[in-house]
Amino acid sequence: MRNPHNILVTGGCGFIGSNFIRHLLARPDFSGRIVNVDALTYAGNPLSLEDIAAAHPDRYRFLHADICDAPKMTALIAQEQPDTVVHFAAESHVDRSISGPAAFIRTNLVGTFTLLEAARAAWKDRTDVLFHHISTDEVYGSLGSTGRFLETTAYDPRSPYSASKAGSDHLVSAYHHTYGLPVTISNCSNNYGPYQFPEKLIPLMILNLREGKPLPVYGDGGNIRDWLHVADHCAAIGEIIARGRVGETYNIGGDNEWKNIDIVHLLCDIMAEITGKARAEYTRLITFVADRPGHDRRYAIDCEKIKGELGWRPTPDFRALLTATVRWYLDNPAWIESVRTGEYRRWIDTHYGGR
Ligand code: NAD
Ligand code: DAU
Repeated sequence: MRNPHNILVTGGCGFIGSNFIRHLLARPDFSGRIVNVDALTYAGNPLSLEDIAAAHPDRYRFLHADICDAPKMTALIAQEQPDTVVHFAAESHVDRSISGPAAFIRTNLVGTFTLLEAARAAWKDRTDVLFHHISTDEVYGSLGSTGRFLETTAYDPRSPYSASKAGSDHLVSAYHHTYGLPVTISNCSNNYGPYQFPEKLIPLMILNLREGKPLPVYGDGGNIRDWLHVADHCAAIGEIIARGRVGETYNIGGDNEWKNIDIVHLLCDIMAEITGKARAEYTRLITFVADRPGHDRRYAIDCEKIKGELGWRPTPDFRALLTATVRWYLDNPAWIESVRTGEYRRWIDTHYGGR
């Protein structure tokens, strides 16, 4: 069992990274410190950790930097000598990777390579260290109506985003096999919960429901995703960095498959329940729009390995967790306004003329 106590988090001002820092500092078995390095792209929001920064001045430090900046990353890891790197920083939105893939190649591939080189230089032959790489189930490609992704499933990425994540996974694995760098990788399904940038399906739908705007459903709405609450993902990462086997990959999922159109209907139900308005007030906003190019039909994760080895389990009550998520977005207008920078555009605004 490892005892991570000096952790470098990348991309900690994003959705999952900020939830992870919150999770770690709340754990009774973690008494260490965290350095969060983040470039603050459109998706990074320091407000997500404002209370954490104020409450833990001795245990939490923020560094505004780009993971592609090799001299900075080398100096940072050499000086801080973290025992653990948890690497979240990435360009994460599939639609953006279709309209502008360059940033995905830069951050996801070059950025990961830069961090690996910095860790290799600073850690030399240290074996008490770990580089944990956060990845996605999208590297495995698209499923038909049956089957689930295993850790041994061959990679078959189909968007510039998933191809860049697949490449970064391979680099991490190569650094383990070639240089002996102690690494672990986790491939997770779709997350939802607080602090998610409202370009992704669930927060986008919640905001549009709140404002009476159209709910853009791509294609026929029959694409399937496996949804996991972000707190469950963070708990799984906590287990992997403490007890995961070096060199291994762990799939993480929610055992919770939904068609997109059914998620949208469920969100309409929840909004009607919360506001007391008629359900039809919300369902009438559902608008089928042009499909995402190369849209993967179905993802489903087999996460028996992490359950068996590390005893981790996803929380089962999806409706209750989704209701709490809707309430969070309704109750936090200041956070929502803070992410509406000049660059913030809902996909529908740019692609479907705001219909
Ligand atoms: P996000 O887009 O919300 O946050 C990404 C963060 O990385 C932001 O704070 C951003 O400022 C930072 N960043 C981007 N480029 C950077 C750079 N060059 N240098 C430093 N920081 C930079 O992403 P997320 O949804 O929190 O995803 C985090 C990680 O988890 C990603 O690696 C993603 O591929 C993976 N993942 C996400 C999901 C999901 O459902 N959101 C599921 C599985 C895996
Ligand atoms: O599976 C893990 C991945 O999940 C992560 O690696 C990615 O970082 C994360 O963004 C997410 O990718 P998806 O493409 O699955 O998530 P998104 O929220 O963009 O879309 C979920 C589904 O909903 C997908 O089938 C596309 C559809 N969709 C999405 C949006 C934004 C719509 O129908 N309408 C929309 O407006």
